[in-house]
Amino acid sequence: MLGRVNHVAIAVPDLASAAQSYRATLGASVTEPQVLPEHGVTVVFVTLPNTKVELLEPLGDTSPIAAFLAKNPSGGMHHICYEVEDIIAARDTLKASGARVLGDGEPKIGAHGKPVLFLHPKDFQGTLIELEQV
Ligand code: CO
Repeated sequence: MLGRVNHVAIAVPDLASAAQSYRATLGASVTEPQVLPEHGVTVVFVTLPNTKVELLEPLGDTSPIAAFLAKNPSGGMHHICYEVEDIIAARDTLKASGARVLGDGEPKIGAHGKPVLFLHPKDFQGTLIELEQV
């Protein structure tokens, strides 16, 4: 079911500062901020030779990462995103095996303009998993 790692996401309290840290201190290429109201986040991507790192900052009072940052004030690893070929087939297989899909179970359009779903961390070793159809 799983393809490549599309990105690893890190929640941060200050996106501008985090982007600058990756750009200036780590010498990485960082995209411009993208506001994603439907996901309650603003993101940038750090582009690496073999994958990407997504830096996430909360957007709005009901951001899904606000509680995470309350527990991890300086930020921390938030989720890992795996590529799948068919997100509906992957979702149906996972649900049939008892895994929990977050939200209403319908894919939303993610930061790359592609459908994404999130899987409950308690079903996968305490790690929030994002699936992205590529
Ligand atoms: Co992501």
